Parts: sequence; C-alpha cells; structure tokens
Amino acid sequence: MTNSDLTGKTILVTGAAKRIGRGIALRLAAEGARVAIHYDRSEPEARRTAEECGGAPLFRANLESVAEIERMFAEVEQRLGRLDGLVNNAARFTRFDPLAITEKDWDFIHSVNLKAVFFCCQQAARLMQKNETGGRIVNISSLGGIRPWAEHAHYCASKAGVIMLTRALAKAFAPAITVNSVAPGVIPFEDIDERGKRMIANTPALRGGTPDEIADAVLYFLKASNFVTGQILAIDGGLSQR
Ligand SMILES: NC(=O)c1ccc[n+]([C@@H]2O[C@H](COP(=O)([O-])OP(=O)(O)OC[C@H]3O[C@@H](n4cnc5c(N)ncnc54)[C@H](OP(=O)(O)O)[C@@H]3O)[C@@H](O)[C@H]2O)c1
Repeated sequence: MTNSDLTGKTILVTGAAKRIGRGIALRLAAEGARVAIHYDRSEPEARRTAEECGGAPLFRANLESVAEIERMFAEVEQRLGRLDGLVNNAARFTRFDPLAITEKDWDFIHSVNLKAVFFCCQQAARLMQKNETGGRIVNISSLGGIRPWAEHAHYCASKAGVIMLTRALAKAFAPAITVNSVAPGVIPFEDIDERGKRMIANTPALRGGTPDEIADAVLYFLKASNFVTGQILAIDGGLSQR
C-alpha cells in the first residue's frame, strides 16, 4: 500500500502554531495536503500558520484532558469528514534535579508528552480504520528518549515512552495504519540555553537542526508504504552516535 502523494490527504498536526509544528504544517500544505492545525494557547500564531497554509482549519484543545482529545477528534470528523494522517508534535519540556521533582512536575510532562500521544493515536486510529486507504501516524519523540539526560529524567522517560508506544501501536494498528517516530536532536530557537549550545558544539554536524529537516523526515513516514512501520528516525546531526 503506497501513499506517495499527499495531495488532498487530511493530516492533523498537534502544537502546530509555532516552531517545529509550524514548520511541519507549512511543508504539508506545500505538498498539497489538507492540513489541520491544532493549538492550545497560541491562538494568534495558530491563525497566522493556518493562513500561510492556505486557510487551514483550526482545532483548539488542551491535550492534558482525554475528554478534550475525544472532542477534538469528533470535531475533526464532523468538519473534515475523514483523517488520513496525524503528527503528534505537541509536548512540554522542563528541567529539574530528579531529587527535587514533585508529582505535579512529573504529571505536567507526562500528561502531554505521553498520555496525550497515546489517546491521540487511539482517536486517530478509530477514524483511520474507516478509510479504505488506512492512515499514517508520526510521533515526534526526542533524542532524550534515546539518550539519558540527568536533569531531564522525567522528560526522557516520557519520550522513551513515546518510542515504545510507537513500536507497540505499529503492531496493534497494522496493516492499515503505520506508526513511526522522528526523534529530533537540538533544533534551536531564540530561547536556547547554555546546555543546548554545548550540545550543538558536541554535534558531529557542528550545528543545530531546522524545523524543515524534521519536516523532511515526517514527510518520509507520511508518504512511505505500509512496509515502513514501528521505526524511529533520529534527526540529530549525529549526536546520538556520541
Ligand atoms: N526544539 C527541540 O530542540 C526539540 C528537541 C527534541 C525533541 N523536540 C520535540 O519536537 C516537538 C516540537 O518541539 P518544539 O520545540 O517546537 O515544541 P514546543 O514549542 O515546546 O511545543 C509545541 C507546542 O506544544 C503545544 N502544547 C504544549 N502543551 C500543550 C497542551 N497541554 N495542550 C495542547 N498543546 C500543548 C503548545 O501549543 P500552544 O503554544 O498552542 O499552547 C506548543 O506550541 C516536541 O514534541 C518536542 O518534544 C524538540
């Protein structure tokens, strides 16, 4: 089952208002996909991205809540009629000494980075199984789900969870729906800290990556046949090899 042409495919990108999610949404629109923009707090940025995607539909939801996730996917089906692809991009990132982390800090990360990814996959698969052509799910994980980062143990655990969810759901949803993951290395924006700068200096490619480079990998999985599933592709300038 090939899927090489994204023209007219309905693809939802979570956290698509800004940064990497915005880059993915713009690329999908340029490929002719019917991209749907999810956002939570960044409404003006989401509207701008939607406009630049040729008037893409907007969906607002706080992904911490499974009820909101279910409502959003019901709205997607009602407004767009079908769903061919899902890019689970929305996430949170915090830094704590593991000895100081509280239950609230843990839940803050895991509710969005892992729980929401699972329930978005579940809701998307329920819609995609209605399609004759199945569907494509791409989960954005992280180099932090592959390599251990001491002050991000909670984040690393959430992203390692995304990687195992990807592999388990690839088996569960086969053959109609593929589930793959892109694991970015450092993709710097204006708020990059000293640790991020050190990681870039330690990156074999000697630079950070760009949203477009992440979008390239996402496009690969969205377009690939159903013979490509359960895979994790690190886009990290070689940093995972250090
Ligand atoms: N940047 C990097 O160097 C890097 C490295 C490795 C992995 N990644 C991964 O790549 C993806 C994108 O990274 P990024 O840096 O572009 O992400 P980001 O800006 O930190 O977050 C993306 C979006 O997630 C949404 N989000 C957060 N909490 C939410 C909630 N409760 N409900 C709904 N949406 C929520 C936010 O939407 P609103 O603003 O609309 O609220 C936010 O704009 C993430 O999965 C991240 O973990 C990034």
